[in-house]
Amino acid sequence: MVSKSLTTALLLQGAAAWPQMADMAARNNELEARIAPLAPFPEWPGKPNHALYNKFDAASQLVSVSGEHEWRAPGPGDIRGPCAGLNAAANHGYLPRNGIATAETINTGLREAFNLALDATLVLQTATMFFDGDPVSGRWSIGYHSDQTQSLGAIGNLLGNETGICGYGHLKTEGDASITRGDWLAPEDNSNCKSYPKFAQELLDLAKARTGGNITPQVLAEHQYNRKLHSIATNPNYFSPAYAGVAFTFGAHMFAFQLLANHSAEDPRGILTPEVFESMFGYTRDANGDLVYTYGYERIPDNWYKRGDDDMWDTADIAISTAQQCASYPTNCQVGGNTGKVNSFSGVDLGDITGGFINSVEDLSDPAKMGCFISQAIQADVPSFLDHVFEGSLLSQATALIPTTLVPALVSLGECPNLPQGKSVFAYGEGYPGAQFPSEGNRNPY
Ligand code: HEM
Ligand SMILES: *[C@@H]1O[C@H](CO)[C@@H](O)[C@H](O)[C@H]1NC(C)=O
Ligand SMILES: *[C@@H]1O[C@H](CO)[C@@H](O)[C@H](O)[C@H]1NC(C)=O
Repeated sequence: MVSKSLTTALLLQGAAAWPQMADMAARNNELEARIAPLAPFPEWPGKPNHALYNKFDAASQLVSVSGEHEWRAPGPGDIRGPCAGLNAAANHGYLPRNGIATAETINTGLREAFNLALDATLVLQTATMFFDGDPVSGRWSIGYHSDQTQSLGAIGNLLGNETGICGYGHLKTEGDASITRGDWLAPEDNSNCKSYPKFAQELLDLAKARTGGNITPQVLAEHQYNRKLHSIATNPNYFSPAYAGVAFTFGAHMFAFQLLANHSAEDPRGILTPEVFESMFGYTRDANGDLVYTYGYERIPDNWYKRGDDDMWDTADIAISTAQQCASYPTNCQVGGNTGKVNSFSGVDLGDITGGFINSVEDLSDPAKMGCFISQAIQADVPSFLDHVFEGSLLSQATALIPTTLVPALVSLGECPNLPQGKSVFAYGEGYPGAQFPSEGNRNPY
């Protein structure tokens, strides 16, 4: 059903943008492909209907930030992490305020607060629970490791020590070259949970240069490109896996506009001012006017209107906008990493890791292929990540849930007939210093 929406969107786009992009891609040799953007990133990415959306309904789009949804700072023991949206949702009680997510709270909370569509929350929540949390209890931490995700409590850590989405969860869902978070294995600025003002300022400066101030999808796509170049040039351990590196980090860049922008009758497609961005990302200004980040203080501003109920951002939008990234910035979609020195990026062979399903970065500018590429990557990684986290009967219980719980939740990425089995990041990351997966140590995640 939803794979049909991907195909429809592809056909609609096909009339205009795609053949042109494919032509341009074919005309460019590899060297030229390194110059960005190859084709302009669209002003309104995702399915074409979003570009035409012209409705506004104040009553259903206004998001409550009072009563049970009043903003409250996280208390002692409450967990916050690398995701501005999850942190803000928890601070307003749209997710549990302790920062421990469940399928039910994610699926309802993220629609109520942001109108992220159910098919997308299902993919994200299910993949994350298998990667970073406890597929048996369904719980996962929206930040670093917590004893509260384990079905057996703290003692259960011995049989399965779940990482949460940041800290040692690095490269499962969380990746390098984030909008404002650091690279976990970089020599400096290396928290992958907290936000760095210097990266937020770079985004605001780019927006100022491109639009006069407001942050747009095109600004975010260019920021992602800049962030990847920065990581390659400064982090000897930079690594970009298929899911966390190509799909998820870019998905988050799009969320920053699509889910955090304010809507109105004048701007039915949304507008993201620096002020709204700063509030949603936990920033205030000091006496000199400089950005100040307070960990876990993300806030939905008063009088903020989410996207329309009939204009939700869904799985097809994630796949299409990620494919659009690959068409515009092909180097962003290379899987691979630095080999221990800065500027030593070495890509892995896409044909090899996908069993011949994807053979070049150009293939990834096809949204239908992108959807299946994401699905394949999740399915290839889950067994290895489970194996690294769980032991004994917990491992067999969790593994038994792959066909019954994981695979059905991924259908909105496409039905992908005859999809070969992909390789896990443990296999293709071998030899890359950034793709080793220590599951514990004495790193402080902040
Ligand atoms: C189940 C749903 C979600 C999961 C599992 C999730 C997880 C994550 C993770 C792991 C990151 C770090 C990515 C990276 O390394 O760059 C992240 C970043 C981000 N997410 Fe989410 N997220 C979810 C939903 C949302 C929603 C609903 C929003 C917006 C309302 C959102 C907005 C963002 C933004 C803006 C960032 C970038 C933060 C930064 O780099 O400073 N996410 N998310
Ligand atoms: C959202 O837009 C409306 C209409 O322009 C405006 O009244 C409201 O203050 C905006 N909200 C925020 C948080 O900027
Ligand atoms: C679990 O992992 C965390 C880091 O994610 C670590 O701090 C903690 O010591 C580990 N606990 C056990 C019992 O291994």
